[in-house]
Amino acid sequence: MPEIHSLLLEKRVFKPDAAFAKQANWGPKKVAELRRLAARSPERFWEKMAREHVSWFKPWRRALDWKPPFAKWFVGAHTNVSYNCLDRHVTGENAWRRNKAAIVWEGEPGDSRVLTYGDLHREVQKFANVLEAKGIKKGDRVAIYMPMIPEIAIAMLACTRIGAPHTVVFGGFSADSLRDRILDVGAKLVVTADGGFRRGKPIALKAAVDEALTGAPGVASVVVVRRTGEPVSMREGRDAWWHDLMAEAPASCPPAKLDSEHPLFVLYTSGSTGKPKGILHTTGGYLTHITATTHAIFDLKEDDTFWCTADVGWVTGHSYVVYGPLANGATTVMYEGAPNEPGPDRFWSIIAKYGVSVFYTAPTAIRTFIRWGDEHPNRHDLSSLRLLGSVGEPINPEAWIWYHRVIGKKRCPIVDTWWQTETGGILVSPLPGAVAAKPGSCTLPFPGIEPEVLDAEGRAVKAPQGGFLTLRKPWPGMLRGIWGDPARYKEQYWSRYEKVYFTGDGAHFDKDGYLWVMGRVDDVMNVSGHRIGTMEVESALVSHPAVAEAAVVGRPDDLTGTAIVAFVTPKTGAHANANLREALRGHVAREIGALARPAEVRFTDALPKTRSGKIMRRLLRDVASGRETVQDTTTLEDLSVLARLHAPDEA
Ligand code: WT7
Repeated sequence: MPEIHSLLLEKRVFKPDAAFAKQANWGPKKVAELRRLAARSPERFWEKMAREHVSWFKPWRRALDWKPPFAKWFVGAHTNVSYNCLDRHVTGENAWRRNKAAIVWEGEPGDSRVLTYGDLHREVQKFANVLEAKGIKKGDRVAIYMPMIPEIAIAMLACTRIGAPHTVVFGGFSADSLRDRILDVGAKLVVTADGGFRRGKPIALKAAVDEALTGAPGVASVVVVRRTGEPVSMREGRDAWWHDLMAEAPASCPPAKLDSEHPLFVLYTSGSTGKPKGILHTTGGYLTHITATTHAIFDLKEDDTFWCTADVGWVTGHSYVVYGPLANGATTVMYEGAPNEPGPDRFWSIIAKYGVSVFYTAPTAIRTFIRWGDEHPNRHDLSSLRLLGSVGEPINPEAWIWYHRVIGKKRCPIVDTWWQTETGGILVSPLPGAVAAKPGSCTLPFPGIEPEVLDAEGRAVKAPQGGFLTLRKPWPGMLRGIWGDPARYKEQYWSRYEKVYFTGDGAHFDKDGYLWVMGRVDDVMNVSGHRIGTMEVESALVSHPAVAEAAVVGRPDDLTGTAIVAFVTPKTGAHANANLREALRGHVAREIGALARPAEVRFTDALPKTRSGKIMRRLLRDVASGRETVQDTTTLEDLSVLARLHAPDEA
């Protein structure tokens, strides 16, 4: 297990401000009551959340059906996610929200659009009709590969309206990655755009879709939003423009009454093998979980302007850009581009311009802002901010303090939220009006959530000892499986311990019951808050004609948290030089996407292996971060390999 004592040096505690606590959606008294209820029965607690935060067409017969590792929540109930995000804000007692801003969007070039709940309700119904006209029926999968423009939310909500599970593929992924996901999920239709703007340039997306579809005959239709205006090729009979289809689409499409366990979306994430896992989330439980956590943790009020900076291609964007805020009838901000376009103050100018009051970003971004300098946020009026959030990886206490001081002006509580693609929504976080923060700790579990830190034998360890972070009880937003692969679902999450969910993270509790997450314990790297499997990058490297063998590891990096270092054995006759090094970095970026591009490529004539031939990545991690190996090397097949790896290569 990673060392834990450095974290224990962190002694600072930030109590909730009395004025904040007083106005909080969940103040200290309410939190104490809810914790008591949840301690008696997590199911009763979640039923209360489901009643208070979600509208149902038909009530559930039972809160939970738990046959480990398979859970069903709100059994027998009917609901619809788009109904909860739209219809209930434009009809009945909340009908006044029809003219409230739902999405405040800013494009990278500086163009902007505001969609009210009335606008969004209309556009989503029209696009749902477009999907149906293209033959998409309940249960059919739709792939979405788009920039951060309002149409991505419209497309997702339209899918939920008719019960077509969506799979959003991050626009930074390559054509090959897109094809893998389209094939795995069996998508029939792809929604995309000609491209999007990033760092002042149009980035093509439609071209990647065309390439992906060369090997995906199951896709019958492609709908293309015109965003950049760059030329694209449109294939007759398959491809159509969004605006043409929308101009013809009927205005009304009633929401399908879907079973609580109807598949809502599949989102791919990295595991420790080369094949991404399609994480399946369903309807009623997920909606309950993200709606309640958005309300309680981000403390959203009717007049808040909430900005979660994540791309909708990640789970954070699903749960806290689109579904959580909209289900709460809140105003959610979307920004298309890079944080330093045209200058390093873009985020702060957006906060000032729209009066953002609740801001949710990632430690990797915070570290970048620290490096760019305080003068950029200091030039802007950030007085609208009242609450800050962090997600994606452990936040270093010093970054937390900077965020608190320079962005929050020491006025704003910070919620450090721990969760995963698999958990659907936040599981551990301060409740900002009721829980004191300690920089670097995600603090206490949400009511109804009971994480346990276990040793290798499955025994709960005593604080402050470290161990594996696990969950024994199901929660409503939990994944329901890996798409098409129940065996892998069991193996991946439920095999280390019997009937216990294994998160893949190492963690420890302190004497106050605060949770400190120490990072991944498997071969999965966390780069800029996103998981990347070592196997995926290795497979990409080995697919290059000059490569015989490859191993990748993460090394600590000030900015991205982890930087990828690739150890590559070239094929005989290949020239291990700077050209090949650059070619390999580019090759990985093309195969997987730019975020998987190795920061460093090192050539080696051999990799350290166990006698059974397993690559010893833990030794490579030492080499990559320039540490002397103090680990056990007795199982190493050829000890001289290690010495040679420590010597810098020539090329
Ligand atoms: C992994 C999940 C969930 C949204 C973004 C990432 C790490 C996430 C925290 C946090 C410490 C964190 C964990 C987790 N992580 N949030 N607040 N403190 N670590 O989603 O790609 O599914 O990655 O991110 O290691 O297991 P993801």
